[in-house]
Amino acid sequence: MLVSAKEMLEKARDGKYAVGQFNINNLEWTKSILQTAQELQSPVILGVSEGAGKYMTGFKTVAAMVKAMIEEMNITVPVALHLDHGSYEGCYKCIEAGFSSIMFDGSHYPIEENVAKTKELVKICAEKGMSLEAEVGSIGGEEDGVVGLGECADPKECKQIADLGIDFLAAGIGNIHGKYPENWPGLRFDVLENIKKEVGDMPLVLHGGTGIPADMIKKAISLGVAKINVNTECQLSFAAATRKYIEEGKDLQGKGFDPRKLLAPGAEAIKETVKEKMELFGSVGKA
Ligand code: 13P
Repeated sequence: MLVSAKEMLEKARDGKYAVGQFNINNLEWTKSILQTAQELQSPVILGVSEGAGKYMTGFKTVAAMVKAMIEEMNITVPVALHLDHGSYEGCYKCIEAGFSSIMFDGSHYPIEENVAKTKELVKICAEKGMSLEAEVGSIGGEEDGVVGLGECADPKECKQIADLGIDFLAAGIGNIHGKYPENWPGLRFDVLENIKKEVGDMPLVLHGGTGIPADMIKKAISLGVAKINVNTECQLSFAAATRKYIEEGKDLQGKGFDPRKLLAPGAEAIKETVKEKMELFGSVGKA
């Protein structure tokens, strides 16, 4: 069932668990994630970055594929199809393509511009019954080999954006996309608490879910995080399983080079990663 992410995240906030957003890159990933969500009776959010959207030939292809898979695979758990870190233009493309949810990442704009653009999108999403995520404070990550720690969100700015009528808010609290460096100081729970005080009931989003220790994940959920994004960890498990299959020479045996066989270990590995995360986030059985 393709739905907006609003209701599933409000339920998660009230039930003190988080729904996983797993980014998709191709058919195999989408199939693995949907199968796992159905098997575990967990709600799920499929994240699509602008780059992944382009790779799959465009957002319309992605929306058509996801809708058809939900039908053909008899997926009955709630599934949201969500643009990840969308530009303003990208948001409009996904609205048109039939996504059920979008993230507008205006964190790199001055706050006034982030507010103005988010406000426009709030109006359109409300008309279309779509959910909207906004961002304040940048999420760190690796660029040109250097890992930036990002910028912690200003709680007052979080309130300003939350009050516009968005459905959930991503706030930088020392989290990083990709692998965490050895000297990472950890999540800033003091900042998270102050944000929570300002935004009240608004479900919060934790980006950079790969590599955050389980106790920090649990604490973040207890402080109002209701959505956790995972991308790199699925990429790593997919790559490791594929590499092992090739290194063992299985691609050279029989019909092992058949793409359906070659990609199968990676697809299975993604299922394992998704299962592990859904168990950790507490969303199993919550569909
Ligand atoms: P990771 O790649 O670190 O798991 O982060 C994913 C994410 O936050 C996507 O927006």
